[in-house]
Amino acid sequence: MTRDDDPARDPARDPARDPAGDAELEARALDAQRRAYAPYSKFRVGAAVRMAGEVFDGANVENASYGLGICAERTAVFAAVIAGAHRLEAVAVCTDASPPSSPCGACRQVLHEFAADPAAVTVIAINPRGERRSWTLAELLPDGFSGRELP
Ligand code: THU
Repeated sequence: MTRDDDPARDPARDPARDPAGDAELEARALDAQRRAYAPYSKFRVGAAVRMAGEVFDGANVENASYGLGICAERTAVFAAVIAGAHRLEAVAVCTDASPPSSPCGACRQVLHEFAADPAAVTVIAINPRGERRSWTLAELLPDGFSGRELP
């Protein structure tokens, strides 16, 4: 059984209906940004995802062999999946960019994998100065590819 199967973990809140953002998710992304390992790009990214009612965080982890680095959003999603949470509900990403930068295309696709309804998944981008932008995942990845297309 994964955490998604546990009715007790159903989220009480609906971040998509909260125009003020998602304070817990944003705080976790901001904190995770401090743990980024980005000595090459110096572009530190923290991410937090709410999956199956629980928050998981991640940060970008780079490598001297540049192509081996991984984005913050994906480390967060993979941590959730390893913990048994498969249902994506909301995402927050923290960078130093102004305006706050949105997830890269590869990460949008990985987020899409776990979004039952991409139009119901809020993606919030923030920076430590308090700026915020938000979208739904459907807006960031219209007509995204899913396993439903596979034979
Ligand atoms: N990065 C992320 O962590 N998330 C994104 O959505 C965009 C890019 C990271 C990858 C790399 O470590 C650094 O930012 C510069 O591209």
